[in-house]
Order: sequence, then C-alpha cells, then structure tokens
Amino acid sequence: MQSITIQAPDDWHLHFRDGSFLIETVAATARCFKRAIVMPNLTPPITTVEMAQEYKNRILQAVPDNADFDPLMTLYLTNATTSKTIIEAKEAGIKAIKYYPAGATTNSDSAVKQIESLYPVLQTMSDEGILLLIHGEVTHHDVDIFDREAMFIETVLNKIVQSFPDLKIVLEHITTKDAVEFVSQSGKNIAATITPQHLLLNRNDLLVGGIRPHNYCLPVLKRNTHQIALQQAVASGSSKFFLGTDSAPHEQYKKESSCGCAGCYSAWSALELYAQVFEDLDALDKLEGFASFYGADFYGFKRNEGKVRLIKEDWQVPKSITLPNGNPITPFFAGETLSWKVKE
Ligand code: NCD
Ligand code: ZN
Repeated sequence: MQSITIQAPDDWHLHFRDGSFLIETVAATARCFKRAIVMPNLTPPITTVEMAQEYKNRILQAVPDNADFDPLMTLYLTNATTSKTIIEAKEAGIKAIKYYPAGATTNSDSAVKQIESLYPVLQTMSDEGILLLIHGEVTHHDVDIFDREAMFIETVLNKIVQSFPDLKIVLEHITTKDAVEFVSQSGKNIAATITPQHLLLNRNDLLVGGIRPHNYCLPVLKRNTHQIALQQAVASGSSKFFLGTDSAPHEQYKKESSCGCAGCYSAWSALELYAQVFEDLDALDKLEGFASFYGADFYGFKRNEGKVRLIKEDWQVPKSITLPNGNPITPFFAGETLSWKVKE
C-alpha cells in the first residue's frame, strides 16, 4: 500500500510540559492530532480547575496558527482531592482525573498514597461520569520493576473495578500480557492506551549492547512475549485499545545521565511509527479505529472531522531538536529512517 487516509486522530495520553517547552511540544502534536489528553504531572502538579484552565491557556497560545487543536485537560489526583473538586472539574468540562501511585514515575511524589482513602472521590467520579486514568504500577521497593504492572492489576486495580463497577477507567500505556488480558476480560467501562514504544520494542532494545536511555520509559519495556500480546491486541481491532503516545520529553542531559529520566519524546514520529507497526502486523485496516475512533467513543466525544493522509516515503527522524531554551532534546527513534510520513 502506498498511502492510507484516516479520519483525523487524537492522542489520548501525552506530556506537553510547560513554559518554553510548549512551542516545541504542542506544534509536534498539533501537526497531526486534533485533540490530546494532557497529563497533569507538572511541578507543582495540576490539582485544581483553575490551574488546569491556566495551563490550557498556555497550551493554546503555543498552537501554531494553521493548526486546529484542542487540548483536553486532566487533574492530578492527590490525597487532598475532594468530591467538590470532581464536581467543579465536571462543570469546567474536564473529563478525566489522573491517578499516579506515589513514586511511580516522573513528578509523582505528591501523588496518591492510599487509594482506599480516596474511594469517596472515586464514587463521585463514577456518579458524575468522570474518567479515572491510571498509571498502573505498584511502587513498593521490594517489587521487581518488571512485575509492577501485573502486581498493580492483581492487588489494586481489581479492587477498584469491583468496588466501582460503573467507573470508566483507562489503564494507561499498558505493557504486559496481564494487562491485555485484564482489559479484554473486563466490562466495557475498562479500556487501555498503548504507546508506539511498547509495540515496537522490548527490553532487549533497552539493555542489549549498552543501555539506551532514549528507550527508557515507565512502565519499563518488558520481554518480547508481552510486546507480542500488545501487538495482538491492536491487530485484533478491539475497541478497548486505543492510541496514547505517552510522548514525554526530557532534555538530552536529563536522559543521558547517571540517573536518567523516564520518557520517550515521540510526538514527531508517533503516528508514522504506529502505521509501521500495523503494516508489519498486516493490520493497516485497523489503524483508523485505534487512532481515530475508539478513544473518542470511549471518552464520549464526537469523532473528529477531517482526514489525515500518510504516504509511503522514507524520511529521517532528526538526531536532535533544539528547544526554545537552547537545550537539545533527542527524539524517539532519533536518526532512524521511517517509511511512513504524514502528508502535510
Ligand atoms: C512520563 C513523564 O516523563 O512525565 N514518563 C514516562 O516514562 N512515561 C510519566 C509517565 O507517564 O509515566
Ligand atoms: Zn505518561
């Protein structure tokens, strides 16, 4: 196939950061996505409606003139979040709240310590139709990093799902066969996002022949049996799995460090990389549902107007990008040649 045209897609999980990052990151996403669920893990995190509205305005100021892009804001769940916050969020048009277990990932220190103490808030979310977006990893230091997602499903998520059977939940950036099975077997109110890196790579791509910090993200890449389960999930065309890039920029010096940050900055190549994955799986006909339909349907939004066309054309992902603050950032798949390109 030489070209494919899909309904304009959305990105249901990403990180724009703030300040001088926005000119770079918002343009990269708005080149092909019409909407994106914006993660609230800034420092300090976005915990109130007012903070979310101010952040949204800063994002909107960074949208290029020729782009049509709508940032969908989220709030960061903390032990101080109340049902009143949820009601205010709903009134302000906020669709989803993000639950990071404390210590799970970048800027999650102020996150949730005991989810049970927030059950009244989850009940309000369920009543009000607000989605719970979950970073699904336990954080006890005695649990192996490769087991943290499966352990979270078994010990935390199961209980949440049983306690709130109507709560809409997105298990974000899933990485394991366990998660695929859990989501597949759950009711229609449970869905998951899948990133390009977890479809394309496994832990060998992180560790064999040297540590590759630009492939380091959380949840960490798993063994290839898990990668294959994720590929099968998207190739199946199930509407429970949809696109969330988890594009998560960090300056190069913060990734290439003795304690490197987690996160892949994939916004410039993500849609093209997904196309490559679906083509390799002989499932290009399933790309549109994954990228453009299922997320909108699950969140209860209208599907986008307009189309995006990808053509077969070799191009090279830049080796480095200079941020407006002058610092370099290494994009995901830097220097690699991709065979699909979004046609402007
Ligand atoms: C994200 C970040 O950098 O904010 N990092 C990552 O590896 N995915 C946080 C997150 O989504 O876990
Ligand atoms: Zn993320």
